[in-house]
Amino acid sequence: MASIECPKCKEVIETTGLVTVCPKCGADMSGVMEELSHTEGAHGGFARDESMTTHEFIVRTKGLTKIYVMGEVQVPALQSVDLEIRRGEYLSIMGPSGSGKSTLFNLVGGLDKPTAGSCYIEEVDMAQLDAFELAWLRCRKIGYIFQTFNLIPVMTAMENVTLPMIFAGMTSDEMLERGAMLLDIVGLGDRLHHKPYELSGGQQQRVAVARSLANSPAIILADEPTGNLDLQTGKEIIDLLKRLNRESETTVISATHDLKMIDVSDRIVHIRDGAIERIDDRADIDLEIGSMDGEEE
Ligand SMILES: Nc1ncnc2c1ncn2[C@@H]1O[C@H](COP(=O)(O)OP(=O)(O)OP(=O)(O)O)[C@@H](O)[C@H]1O
Ligand SMILES: [Mg+2]
Repeated sequence: MASIECPKCKEVIETTGLVTVCPKCGADMSGVMEELSHTEGAHGGFARDESMTTHEFIVRTKGLTKIYVMGEVQVPALQSVDLEIRRGEYLSIMGPSGSGKSTLFNLVGGLDKPTAGSCYIEEVDMAQLDAFELAWLRCRKIGYIFQTFNLIPVMTAMENVTLPMIFAGMTSDEMLERGAMLLDIVGLGDRLHHKPYELSGGQQQRVAVARSLANSPAIILADEPTGNLDLQTGKEIIDLLKRLNRESETTVISATHDLKMIDVSDRIVHIRDGAIERIDDRADIDLEIGSMDGEEE
């Protein structure tokens, strides 16, 4: 249980989860929650797993399982996955088609619920959150990039990028300034008012990268971000994600078939048939790259 104080009416609220607005005066509580999420241990419970005392892991899954039920048929997509991801890590998830990568993403990103097991974001158990709290977490903590870009076709690059900022309650001046800054970072400072169909595939994915950064997320979940791009453009997107990861300590978790991702990853999780087959760390990755260089010669 945590005690938090409304910045406006000073009402003290006892909570075991996230609070988006003050129940008394309706003031935005996101700043207070943000502070609380960075204060380790000081507030006791707060839907945390008590066995953890620090936030060493930004994402932690325990026995995460997803079984899709289709009439009589059960499809085991994810089978008891235990995974611990450190803050600031660049993690690639590799595996054949159908191995469960997108399923894992949907569960970690709070877009779907597991059949069994738990997923903790900064030690907050996602299953303990109500719909509003989950929406707050998704909006503030996680940026999403999808294989098919998923931009809104009738909106310009600027409007697509600033959309998540509306949900976070930013003013329109702040949104325009930040939207232009983010589009500039991804190299589209001169394409602010282009709609998706007026942009190339690589440019659309760069808009999606800028949109994922709208609310300065702690985690970027990228599901095959280079899947629909040519080699060179794919490399540009990977370099961009790596730069963000290095410069702002954003944790990047990326599902991929793309071998170019190997080089920039801190660890690679190989999954097969919904289970972790093995995890390669940096030393293993260097060895793999070495052997690939050998093959080329
Ligand atoms: N909504 C669903 N209903 C039923 N089965 C599903 C559903 N979504 C995925 N599956 C099944 O779950 C398994 C894992 O699918 P998932 O999309 O996670 O694979 P993936 O590793 O992302 O594959 P790809 O590389 O092709 O994107 C597959 O066998 C798939 O057919
Ligand atoms: Mg997939």
